Amino acid sequence: MSTQMQADLTGTTIAGHGLDWPQLFATRAERMKASEIRELLKLLDQPDVISFAGGIPDPALFPAEAFGAALTSALSGDSKGAALQYSVSEGYKPLRDWLVTRMASLGVECSADNIMITSGSQQALDYLGKLFLSKGDTALVGWPTYLGALQAFNAYEPSYDRLTPLGNRSAADYRETAAANGGKVKFAYASADFANPTGETLPESARNNILDLAEELDIAVIEDAAYQSLRYDGDEVPPLLALDIQRNGGIENTRTIYCGSFSKTLAPGLRVGWVCAAKPVISKLVLMKQAADLHSATLNQMAIHKVASDGFDAQVAKIKATYHARRDAMLAALSRHMPEGVTWTKPDGGMFVWVTLPEHFDGAALLAESLKTERVAFVPGKAFFADGSGANTIRLSFSCASEAMIEEGIKRLGRVVRGG
Ligand SMILES: Cc1ncc(COP(=O)(O)O)c(C=O)c1O
Repeated sequence: MSTQMQADLTGTTIAGHGLDWPQLFATRAERMKASEIRELLKLLDQPDVISFAGGIPDPALFPAEAFGAALTSALSGDSKGAALQYSVSEGYKPLRDWLVTRMASLGVECSADNIMITSGSQQALDYLGKLFLSKGDTALVGWPTYLGALQAFNAYEPSYDRLTPLGNRSAADYRETAAANGGKVKFAYASADFANPTGETLPESARNNILDLAEELDIAVIEDAAYQSLRYDGDEVPPLLALDIQRNGGIENTRTIYCGSFSKTLAPGLRVGWVCAAKPVISKLVLMKQAADLHSATLNQMAIHKVASDGFDAQVAKIKATYHARRDAMLAALSRHMPEGVTWTKPDGGMFVWVTLPEHFDGAALLAESLKTERVAFVPGKAFFADGSGANTIRLSFSCASEAMIEEGIKRLGRVVRGG
């Protein structure tokens, strides 16, 4: 074989000639665009920027020592072979058993067969998009909604329609719109507690409206519970899955697929989340996981299991105390420094406050101005809208800034907004 041919086979020469990659990519890749948030996060490492941009946990609160001990223990004695070996796609059984108890505390009676461990809840969203959406089918999502959900679903080329839990649009109307877009409505996706990006929580009546609509349309409900444990005040509202069980008498009769995560409570870097749903859904997801990555890292699942069983509630209490104080600091600072005409949500938990500016504002332009003149970062809200609206909104996260930084950052942001 000539050197030239060898080079062609390895791709070296082809790459050198500048292949027209996009014409080779599948149509599903067309909607895969760089996330504004992730691109932005790369630029924010400068020490003089006060950032309300990343919706990530404060690393100072990670239970690093507990994880150190858990990893050492998993890699010692009898468990070390299992910790480093291939394992089952359903996930580490002791962790699934722990989750059965945790779900029961939320009003969800289930067995370990109703639970599959995923690599973060993000993986669950990808799998659920793959499981339900044929090209042209419709997903119902909030306007705005979690950007990562849109990114996960986009790969399956759906249409989106607006889920309005407090509105009264008829099932027939949703059905007709979906048919006009060349498919069927397949699921409603909702983050019921302290949603990303708005921080809002759906009252029980709104959760019931979603279940009513889903029953009428005969579709699935995807419940994204990433922030559910982070409540700072107000009473717990039962998860959609718990309400669905109450209506239908048991998890096997439900249509709600609950996506949980240890990312916001223990540590996102270990990539451990879970799905809890009726067995037919779990069985299909297990086959998908086998095909995609076989299983989530066993060592990480063991560490999460040990740290969760030794002190999940204490860890959650610790982070809640810190985030609660930061949430209060942000709401107080917004009241002090924002001009009239600006409104914001008052979240009962989670990590976000959602700000709506007067109509003429553009969040992206405001960010550029804010970084230039006041060195404050946030996320422009438009990316969270499936219909491209929301230019006059911004998302602020209070999870990673100290109370003093929050006061200073919001004061600066107030100056930028007044200037706009
Ligand atoms: C609403 C929501 N769902 C899911 C995720 C994904 O989290 P993970 O994959 O770390 O569980 C996030 C992460 O920020 C989120 O905000």
